[in-house]
Amino acid sequence: MKGKAVVVGAGGIGTAVASALADQGYSEVHVVSRGVETHLLSKVCTWCSDYSDPSIESIARAISERPGTLERLVITNGILQGDGYRPERALRQLSRATMAQIFDVNTILPMLWLGAFHEALRQADKPRMAVLSARVGSIEDNHLGGWYSYRASKAALNMMLQCASVEFGRLNKSAQLVAFHPGTVDTTLSKPFQRGVPESKLFTPNFVAKRLVALLDDVPTAERLLYLDWDGKPIPF
Ligand SMILES: NC(=O)c1ccc[n+]([C@@H]2O[C@H](COP(=O)([O-])OP(=O)(O)OC[C@H]3O[C@@H](n4cnc5c(N)ncnc54)[C@H](OP(=O)(O)O)[C@@H]3O)[C@@H](O)[C@H]2O)c1
Repeated sequence: MKGKAVVVGAGGIGTAVASALADQGYSEVHVVSRGVETHLLSKVCTWCSDYSDPSIESIARAISERPGTLERLVITNGILQGDGYRPERALRQLSRATMAQIFDVNTILPMLWLGAFHEALRQADKPRMAVLSARVGSIEDNHLGGWYSYRASKAALNMMLQCASVEFGRLNKSAQLVAFHPGTVDTTLSKPFQRGVPESKLFTPNFVAKRLVALLDDVPTAERLLYLDWDGKPIPF
């Protein structure tokens, strides 16, 4: 019998990952969101969170205390633009408020969730954790510039995840963390940027979710962070 799976964030990719995990026979699939899509409700246990510290702590504790070990944790929160801000193309567009908001959602929030589950992950046998990163977070791959805050928040996320990978080397050597680049996926986040993306390169959330779920089943214990794309290929940091 498989253990528990948790998905944090129920946007386009998170919802599809939760659905794909629910089809894989985990004892329970838990989904945390500010508001979960109703079509998921029959398949998963849903938790509504405002992502405050007390909410993160209490939801992670409640899920951890349920029967079964935590085998999968997939954290999908991320923003690229929002009310009053767009991805920056130039230094003069940088704003303190925008940078803080993007780092808060893309870097800080995923790490708080990972930290809140660390005891359950310490006790689990071969837990697999994926956090949605992005190829544009690769410093080596950055030849185009632009998108300052989004790129930097994902690069910082990758560094945080590598720190966590080193810590898991002490806490639970069977654990493995993946920073995952899903490709360009047809969701609310990518909608304004899909022009020019060939149809064959614009993935559905379900396609990418199945890839991620299969990748987590196959991924070896590498004792460092794996930064992988949807095809399982490594991305340079
Ligand atoms: N779509 C792509 O082409 C693409 C490419 C590369 C990387 N990614 C990454 O994939 C992940 C999922 O994105 P998606 O494509 O599924 O986008 P999406 O449909 O817009 O979903 C956005 C996700 O971010 C969370 N979120 C949005 N605003 C938030 C806020 N203010 N505070 C906390 N959480 C917030 C949502 O959580 P709630 O459920 O709580 O609303 C949801 O899980 C992101 O990390 C993104 O950077 C996407």
